[in-house]
Amino acid sequence: MEQVDMKKIFIETYGCQMNFSDSEIVGSILSDNNYLITTDINEADCILINTCAIREGAEQRIRKRLKELKALRRNKPWFKVGVLGCMAERLKEQLMEEEDNVNLVAGPDAYRTLPELLKQVETGAKAANVLLSEEETYAEIDPVRLGSNGISAFISIMRGCENFCAYCVVPYTRGRERSRDPKTIVNEAKRLFENGYKEVTLLGQNVNSYHWTDDDGNIVDFPELMKQVAEIDPTLRVRYSTSHPKDLSDKLLEVMSSYDNICKCIHLPVQSGSNRMLKLMNRKYTVEWYLDRIAAIRRYMPDCAITTDVIAGFCGETLEDHEQTLSLFKQVGYDYAFMFKYSMRPNTYAHKRLTDDVSEEEKTRRLEEIIALQGELSLTSYQKDLGKTFEVLIEGTSKRNKEQLFGRNSQNKVIVFDGNGHKPGEYVKVKVLKCTSATLIGELV
Ligand code: SAH
Ligand code: SF4
Ligand code: F3S
Repeated sequence: MEQVDMKKIFIETYGCQMNFSDSEIVGSILSDNNYLITTDINEADCILINTCAIREGAEQRIRKRLKELKALRRNKPWFKVGVLGCMAERLKEQLMEEEDNVNLVAGPDAYRTLPELLKQVETGAKAANVLLSEEETYAEIDPVRLGSNGISAFISIMRGCENFCAYCVVPYTRGRERSRDPKTIVNEAKRLFENGYKEVTLLGQNVNSYHWTDDDGNIVDFPELMKQVAEIDPTLRVRYSTSHPKDLSDKLLEVMSSYDNICKCIHLPVQSGSNRMLKLMNRKYTVEWYLDRIAAIRRYMPDCAITTDVIAGFCGETLEDHEQTLSLFKQVGYDYAFMFKYSMRPNTYAHKRLTDDVSEEEKTRRLEEIIALQGELSLTSYQKDLGKTFEVLIEGTSKRNKEQLFGRNSQNKVIVFDGNGHKPGEYVKVKVLKCTSATLIGELV
């Protein structure tokens, strides 16, 4: 059997922010075991692809990428391919049978065993670990910040999901919900701040379920955790994603409103504007409940941006259900939305018990209608900012014009402006003069 000595690993990440955060944990585990993380795939001995399984399209993209990678082997026969993340967890060893150039498969809770798995692969064997854990949070691992701008960083505060929305694969790919020790979270945020970072985003599939009881019986819930992170320093911005509408509490809104450095932006995925669909989706809230939460957000923070996720064409969705989604969008007036066509995922409740009966053409038509409406709503939202002055955290130089800088306001909207010698990482005040439906254009004040 071939024996290769793999030194340089290239990590490629797909999917949500949690996957990007996980890749940084993987990078840290491998660096601690004498592997080198390279940013140049051509000098790598091995690629680890951190994958997403949320929709069929996401998986097709990975399969296409796996085929492309075969070309790399032509002049590097020892080159190895490992698949990590949600698609690895969903398909397990089967993935290595279906894709002949995959040497390694590791699920989201198995990353500590990657050095051993890589050792096996080095001997020419195939290696897999897809065990899910009820405890793993990688709590004490200090992630290497891959592809970071040195200004904003993600911090995973919990893993897994137990909501079992009928369409969703995440509870199967990420396992049981578990929270990470708040001390390790606050320490990670402190270290980032000491290293010059100005913004942290606390990540979880449903951050509002965050719950920790320490040895003395003290409970830390999500609002309390937000407080602790926000108190590190008033110049450290704090964001989070995602909260589930069913548990968006007034307590959290109150904490958000009382700290200037907690960003005024809430991502609150609605999925559908029809109560019948919400019930079928097992979302555990109604349109009325959702609108009550929107009203609460506006009450506590009139300037808070609200964004959402929506699915077009879920099982049994009628035209009337779809109209209700459009009407909810108008009522809320979202600042931004991620919009998807329903994609049936094997083994979910919807796959086993419901029928994927909206035609592909009709799903596309409904999705396009939502996208067009959201385009108008975004434009309205951005136009409302004309003439306003925002505090902006500068993130970098504009791609189009080197003289210009870009950053974000508290509401997470991107603002472009003439730099005048300012640098990434600084806070500046910018007045909005123009806008598109995705960018604000302004000047320093
Ligand atoms: N935990 C987050 C969502 C994570 S997945 C939450 O509950 O809000 C991100 C988004 O992908 C979901 O909000 C949903 O809109 C979309 N999504 C999930 N499964 C999907 C599927 N099978 N087909 C289409 N979109 C899906
Ligand atoms: Fe999926 Fe629902 Fe969990 Fe979000 S809350 S990850 S949509 S099961
Ligand atoms: Fe995709 Fe897994 Fe995230 S399925 S969206 S990478 S949790």
